[in-house]
Amino acid sequence: MSEHQRLYPVDASLAASAWVDADRYRELYRQSVEDPDTFWREQAKRLDWDRFPDTIKNTSFASRNVDIRWFEDGELNVAYNCLDRHLERRGDQPAIIWEGDDPDQHKIITYRELHQRVSQLANALSALGIGKGDTVTLYMPMVPEAAMAMLACARIGAVHSVVFGGFSPDALAGRIVDSRSRVVITADESVRGGKQVPLKDNVDAALTREGTDVVETVLVVKRTSGEIEWQDGRDRWFDEVVDAASSECPAVAMNAEDPLFILYTSGSTGTPKGLKHTSGGYLLYAALTHETVFDYHPGDVYWCAADVGWITGHSYIVYGPLANGATTLMFEGVPTYPDHGRIGKIVDKHNVAILYTSPTAIRALMAHGEHIMDSSQRDSLKVLGTVGEPINPEAWEWFYRVVGNSRCPIMDTWWQTETGGHMITPLPGATDLKPGCATQPFFGVQPAVVDNDGHRLEGATDGNLVILDSWPGQARSIWNNHERFVQTYFSTYEGVYFTGDGCRRDEQGDYWITGRIDDVLNVSGHRMGTAEIESSLVAHESVAEAAVVGYPHDIKGQGIYVYVTLNDDVEPTDELKQALKQWVRKDIGPIATPDFIQWAPGMPKTRSGKIMRRILRKIAANETDGLGDTSTLADPSVVEDLIENRHIKS
Ligand code: WT7
Repeated sequence: MSEHQRLYPVDASLAASAWVDADRYRELYRQSVEDPDTFWREQAKRLDWDRFPDTIKNTSFASRNVDIRWFEDGELNVAYNCLDRHLERRGDQPAIIWEGDDPDQHKIITYRELHQRVSQLANALSALGIGKGDTVTLYMPMVPEAAMAMLACARIGAVHSVVFGGFSPDALAGRIVDSRSRVVITADESVRGGKQVPLKDNVDAALTREGTDVVETVLVVKRTSGEIEWQDGRDRWFDEVVDAASSECPAVAMNAEDPLFILYTSGSTGTPKGLKHTSGGYLLYAALTHETVFDYHPGDVYWCAADVGWITGHSYIVYGPLANGATTLMFEGVPTYPDHGRIGKIVDKHNVAILYTSPTAIRALMAHGEHIMDSSQRDSLKVLGTVGEPINPEAWEWFYRVVGNSRCPIMDTWWQTETGGHMITPLPGATDLKPGCATQPFFGVQPAVVDNDGHRLEGATDGNLVILDSWPGQARSIWNNHERFVQTYFSTYEGVYFTGDGCRRDEQGDYWITGRIDDVLNVSGHRMGTAEIESSLVAHESVAEAAVVGYPHDIKGQGIYVYVTLNDDVEPTDELKQALKQWVRKDIGPIATPDFIQWAPGMPKTRSGKIMRRILRKIAANETDGLGDTSTLADPSVVEDLIENRHIKS
């Protein structure tokens, strides 16, 4: 057995103190799938309901009738559950510890303070005409105001749509238009790694685009006091508006199935999809997974180093931890600034017990050597977690040994924007760990492996990962487009949810996620649709055709490799390559910037005109020995040219 197939058995003392040990996991898991109503009725008690639900599960995955409802006659308010109900016991406990990009800046916000600010902002939003069912777009830095804005929407039944602050004005505009937001909340600038990003300028630019005249008000958080333009009547300072509002704001009772938020994510085709998450099922699932997967106990300082612009930030910076009355640490910066020891120093400074981060962050640190952790002790850590992409065993071992001092189990959590919360993951007191393996399904989750025809595969096998039945945290639909929801997730294989991921199940029944099997890239844990990048490129005047594939990248997991066919009269120069990279960067955002562009005089196409991406992926990865059958290509000779001119050569 090689070092990388090592097993890390559950620590006995952790098994004794954890919420869930191996026996309890087996028992509860069995109940959760055999009798979901009983299991979830019991779990629903962890929330405070205005009306406790009678009906628990009412779901159908049949493609002609995809209809998912949980707790459908229950009523509750999400902000009440994240704030008000904690005030009596934990009013003075920190709810949010904010650690600035600059290591000399941090702020502590207690539950009482957060409750007050959220109530004021909720009143301010109401005064701007925002109420139940209205959407609000958030384009924010990693500052406490982002969490306040989310919770303020929840308090009055408005639906937030957080757009990652790294997206371009056009990407932002598209999401504002699709969600028809009348209010946008932003900041003058965000700060990451010592650099400013002009958020307000980006909003200004976005609001010149067609269809964005739905926006009536822009609330601006003053983060840097950097110079910005101001449009009277539309733009208002966040603090002025909030300070002026009353802090008495009743939380509106919402139906469990009322939407809590929309979050846009990329798919293999078309524009980003706005996934719709609900108030009851989502919050319950976020709270339960946060407590059990990280074995969170009262008093633990918990840190999820994601951005609120992604689902990880929604479920595991804001909703899960706050529903559980935890102290959640919010970090504005990047792990490598001002030096590579920053993560460890933050852990020591705030006594972090639980650290949840991404494989890409770990690999970025690992490249600088173990000594970067010498500047911290990290003795407060108890449990570690990763998310976003498969973690290679080397990075797992490094995280375990160097960051966790070989004491802390790592929860490799597999899930998606669509799933709302963790789906396949170890539990600290219950699951033996295998580096690189997401291991076992969470309560209520029934994974299965199917072949390309949809046949169930049993035992040790590999294939396509599907989920057989619904869980409460699941997205219910795509905003304004239920048909697309059905098409994307429930029509590939009848009657089951298709994840888009491939996986292997080993002899012990543990799941190893092998990555996307559709045309979706995972770059540093960020999801990118190849189709989006391609349509950006073909909009450039010089480009006739573009094909985008991923290739293995040491730190980012996947890099972006682009094949471009230019229009006949265009000269293929290095300057043009640079210009095209900048074009995509500006059009979508920095995370979509191509790593390589290769000129392709022709694309490998089938006789029916379909680009054979399988071949392009192999050439990009420099795996040209295994190209397979190219005889079905319309013009097999284009392949030789592409191989000849590939970027990565051994
Ligand atoms: C895709 C979902 C879930 C929050 C972050 C990303 C990949 C996620 C893992 C993991 C292997 C993983 C999958 C998935 N992924 N976690 N632990 N092991 N792959 O959310 O942007 O919706 O992306 O990320 O490919 O489908 P997302």
